[in-house]
Amino acid sequence: MVKIELDQNKCIGCGTCVALCPDYFEMEGAKAKPKTSDDIGEGGCAKEAANNCPVSAIQLK
Ligand code: F3S
Repeated sequence: MVKIELDQNKCIGCGTCVALCPDYFEMEGAKAKPKTSDDIGEGGCAKEAANNCPVSAIQLK
């Protein structure tokens, strides 16, 4: 079971998470936000997004 946490205070709006994983992330103005706060199962592309965020704003818990 995996849930996405995204710290908008850390996010610099680079857009990498949205590019890698549009199913789970979208832009909200200059910041990204998760599309769901629900359990996303195995994590899927959200793992890739978390691993590639330059400021480590994405946590999967
Ligand atoms: Fe922000 Fe990181 Fe996504 S900086 S736009 S949360 S890849």
